[in-house]
Amino acid sequence: MNGIKINHLTKVFGGVRAVDDLTISIAHGKATGLIGPNGSGKTTLMNLITGLLKPDCGTIEIGNDTFDSINPQTLRDLRIARTFQDGRLVDQLSVDDNLLLAIAENETGKSLLQINTNSMQERLDKTLKKIGLTAHRKKMAEELSYGQRKLLELGRALIQDADIYLLDEPFSGLFAKQIDNVLNLITGLKESKKTIVIIEHNMGLIKQIADRLIVLDHGQLLASGSPNVVLKNKSVQQAYLGV
Ligand SMILES: Nc1ncnc2c1ncn2[C@@H]1O[C@H](COP(=O)(O)OP(=O)(O)OP(=O)(O)O)[C@@H](O)[C@H]1O
Ligand SMILES: [Mg+2]
Repeated sequence: MNGIKINHLTKVFGGVRAVDDLTISIAHGKATGLIGPNGSGKTTLMNLITGLLKPDCGTIEIGNDTFDSINPQTLRDLRIARTFQDGRLVDQLSVDDNLLLAIAENETGKSLLQINTNSMQERLDKTLKKIGLTAHRKKMAEELSYGQRKLLELGRALIQDADIYLLDEPFSGLFAKQIDNVLNLITGLKESKKTIVIIEHNMGLIKQIADRLIVLDHGQLLASGSPNVVLKNKSVQQAYLGV
């Protein structure tokens, strides 16, 4: 299995070139940090890779296949899970059902009722334990705190039997203890040799996770390589770190 190769990918919104003729490689079985200033196109790139948006031009190569755009069935076949920067919870459903829904929507294509079997129950219990929400499983998502909602959003990705995890700012707004929890969970994914792409603004955290960094600026590649080298790069420091 190869990683993900992005070839000349472009997405324009009105006058904004959110992703601009971008060509990058994301290594299989490694953690890639996707960084860059606000509005540099990081989330748009994830939306293109997961088919939420269609590229204006360019291609996405995953494994041995090349796609002009990704549809929901392809996403399931390629076993890609993601989290959303702003969360995609259903407020009026319980924690349990939000997790089961993630399997229904992203993995089986079946309804919530069809998938609620014993093996699903096991996966559910395991995921709840991982994200520390077992005691809150019957609560409606809307009753959770901000941090608990972020953990549930991550749980929705973790419960999927995915090969590729795309995580859009999973640490933002978390308390120290929750950050440690999320760090451990992502480390677990790394140890299982999953392909991980993580968007994160905190360089201390990204250095702990990422094997490699890709830096975007105005939808274009500014730099890529090992975190130590990239973060010392002058243009990265000017564009992003403000030093
Ligand atoms: N659906 C949309 N419609 C119009 N413009 C959009 C849309 N999505 C993104 N943009 C614009 O595209 C550019 C890239 O946005 P994107 O959300 O990908 O940035 P980002 O790197 O994820 O930023 P942040 O770090 O703030 O999350 C921005 O100028 C943004 O305003
Ligand atoms: Mg974003």
